[in-house]
Amino acid sequence: MEPSLYSAMATSIAEPPVVRVREDGIRILRLRGPADAEPWRAAFAGAYQAIWSEPPYDERFFPDEAEGILLRAVRLPDHVTLLAVRESGIVAGFGIAYPVQAKSDVARDIRGLLPVEDTFYFAELGVLESYRRSGLGQELVQLRLDLMDKARYHHVLLRTSASRNASYEMYLRLGFEDTGVYMEVKSRKNDGSQRTDRRLFLSRVVGKDG
Ligand SMILES: CC(C)(COP(=O)(O)OP(=O)(O)OC[C@H]1O[C@@H](n2cnc3c(N)ncnc32)[C@H](O)[C@@H]1OP(=O)(O)O)[C@@H](O)C(=O)NCCC(=O)NCCS
Repeated sequence: MEPSLYSAMATSIAEPPVVRVREDGIRILRLRGPADAEPWRAAFAGAYQAIWSEPPYDERFFPDEAEGILLRAVRLPDHVTLLAVRESGIVAGFGIAYPVQAKSDVARDIRGLLPVEDTFYFAELGVLESYRRSGLGQELVQLRLDLMDKARYHHVLLRTSASRNASYEMYLRLGFEDTGVYMEVKSRKNDGSQRTDRRLFLSRVVGKDG
C-alpha cells in the first residue's frame, strides 16, 4: 500500500527536468532549486521518515526536519538533488549530494583523509521498501556520479551504517572503497531517546570520465 502522505499535492506547477524514465514508470527528477522542490516537500518528507525509521538506523524525523533537509540541499552550490517519483505523486526514492564543505561535522572528521575542497558528499540515499531490489538505488548513485561537477570535485565521500548493510554491498559494487574510518552520529531514535551509532566512511575517486 502507498500511504497518501507520500503523495505530492501539487501537480500543476512546472515540473523539474526528468533525467530518466524507467521501464516501471518511475521518473527520476533533478530538482534545481527551491521552486522545483516546493511541490515535493511533503512527499519527500514522508519517504524520508519511513526509510530512516527502519533498522539499523531506527531514526525519528519530524516532517519539518525532513522537509528542511530537502530545502537546504537545493540551495547549496553545485548540489545534485534527485527524486524518483511515481505518476501518483509518490516519492519512491531520493539521492542528494553536495560539496562536503556544506557538511561541517563530516568535513572536520575527514581532514587528513581527503582534500576537503575537492570532495563531494553523497549525503542522502533512500528507496522505499516496496521499490527496492529493482536497481533504483544503484541508478540514484550512478546519476549523482554522472551529474556532479567532475572538473571541480575529484573525490566522493559518503557514510553508511557500520553494520555493513545493503548499501555497503551496493557501494562496493559501484567502485567505492571502505576507508576504515568511522564517525559517531547522534540522532533521535524511534522511541524518542537520543543515541549514538557508528557510521563508516566510503570513498571513491572520480575522473572526468566517471
Ligand atoms: C540501500 C538502498 C538505497 C538500496 O536500494 P535498492 O533500490 O534496493 O538498490 P538496488 O536495487 O539498486 O540494488 C543494488 C545492489 O545493492 C545490493 N543490495 C541491495 N539490497 C540488498 C540487500 N537487502 N542485501 C544484499 N545486497 C543488497 C545488491 O548488490 C544489489 O544488486 P542486485 O540486486 O543486482 O544484487 C535501500 O536498501 C535503502 O533505501 N536502504 C535504507 C536506507 C539506506 O541504507 N541508505 C543508504 C545509506 S548510505
